[in-house]
Amino acid sequence: MPLDMILGAQWGDEGKGRITDLLAIEADITARFSGGDNAGHTITVGSQIYKLHLIPSGVIHPHTICILGNGMVINPERLIVELEDLEKLGVDISPERIKISRAAHILTPAHIALDVAQETRRGGEKIGTTKRGIGPAYMDKTARRGIRAGAMENPESFADLIKQHITDTNHFLEQIYDQPPLDAEEIGSLFYEIAVRLKPYLADTGSMIANALSEGKNVLAEGAQGTLLDIDHGSYPYVTSSSPTAPGALLGLGIGPTHLRRIIGVTKAFQTRVGEGPFPTELSGLVGDQLRGTGENPWDEFGTTTGRPRRCGWLDLVLLRYAARVNGFTELVITKLDILSGISPLRICTAYSSSGISSSILADTPDAVEDYTPEYTGLPGWEQDITSVREADLLPAGAQDYIKLIETETNLPVRMVSVGPERDALVHR
Ligand code: GDP
Ligand code: IMO
Ligand code: MG
Repeated sequence: MPLDMILGAQWGDEGKGRITDLLAIEADITARFSGGDNAGHTITVGSQIYKLHLIPSGVIHPHTICILGNGMVINPERLIVELEDLEKLGVDISPERIKISRAAHILTPAHIALDVAQETRRGGEKIGTTKRGIGPAYMDKTARRGIRAGAMENPESFADLIKQHITDTNHFLEQIYDQPPLDAEEIGSLFYEIAVRLKPYLADTGSMIANALSEGKNVLAEGAQGTLLDIDHGSYPYVTSSSPTAPGALLGLGIGPTHLRRIIGVTKAFQTRVGEGPFPTELSGLVGDQLRGTGENPWDEFGTTTGRPRRCGWLDLVLLRYAARVNGFTELVITKLDILSGISPLRICTAYSSSGISSSILADTPDAVEDYTPEYTGLPGWEQDITSVREADLLPAGAQDYIKLIETETNLPVRMVSVGPERDALVHR
């Protein structure tokens, strides 16, 4: 019966994929509901590292059906590459277990070209998008001229739709952005082949999920991006073009809230952001570098999708409380606590001040948070490496205090603490 959600509580890259992989052990269905291949979800199983962009992170468990929900924008070329890469690693990628919503939208080379052109035009005002065409694909969706995945049922007419869409977009590319046109015929032929390949994966995923829930099965919704990148609730305009929050999960899967059980907010033990936009607790010195890492380790703070170094800073509980409000989190999961080992003292932002007035609650959406000065609570931290700790009581006192402060300040239980990228590097509480 239950629907559980795993949602990013920050600006993305909180470790949603890693936590989804863990909870998918008990899930009959794992489903992505928003975004596209702007997401990069990393899962570490022994020496094998899986990097997923479109396919839900439950895919490594053979029993789980994986759904790409109606709220997604899907680059089908990238999807095929991802399917093939998984197949090489021995993962079952058959249409019996991977399902694409007929109502999901198709992302094309024209969307990517527009994303790149728009970012170039913005110059110093750029958003810092992943250049995966996400904004333009959602623009076409909301302008009611998008092409849905269901159109692939008929590859010939799908190819015609694609050709027309490329021709139409060429007008924008050439006239407005002074860019060369794309070859509509060539892309049309390519997308004909893509439709033939992906047609078997199409399904009415909304009713699949609804039926599974009414049969008492477990459904896990895997968020992409994070609350602070939400088109409505994020730091607009430095956001993505979809709704990665709890209401977005219902919209993007095509079900109501009746069966909703756990709404799990995933937060790193510190704050990161990739791309432009406000970041009140950002650190530019040695501690920032220490949080980021050098790039030697796979978990260092460099984007899975773009390789860009992530901006790093102290954990911001004002924004975490805000994310809890927007999503209605029932609990939190903290990831990357191990990275804080040896940093002393630690700081956590517990309030913002502006014109001498201190507030622990964000007055509005987080667009203008750069106008606030963070107020910090200091903690002594801990020295020990905690990557092999598996029991909450065995965490150093400094780490326990850090977790307790987060619980007290957010009024939410921290159910799990991740202390490494590996599946089993987890402390249950
Ligand atoms: P997602 O987009 O939310 O799925 O997160 P990403 O996969 O983009 O980024 C999280 C990174 O941190 C990945 O490289 C994970 O393997 C890694 N990771 C997740 N949890 C932990 C943890 O507790 N400790 C460490 N050191 N790495 C972690
Ligand atoms: P996962 O699922 C981190 C950011 C981009 C940019 C803004 C808009 O891995 O957590 P877009 O390409 O979506 O138009 O870019 O959103 N962004 C992410 N940052 N993790 C992500 O996904 C992101 N998806 C988009 O960096 O600031
Ligand atoms: Mg990521």
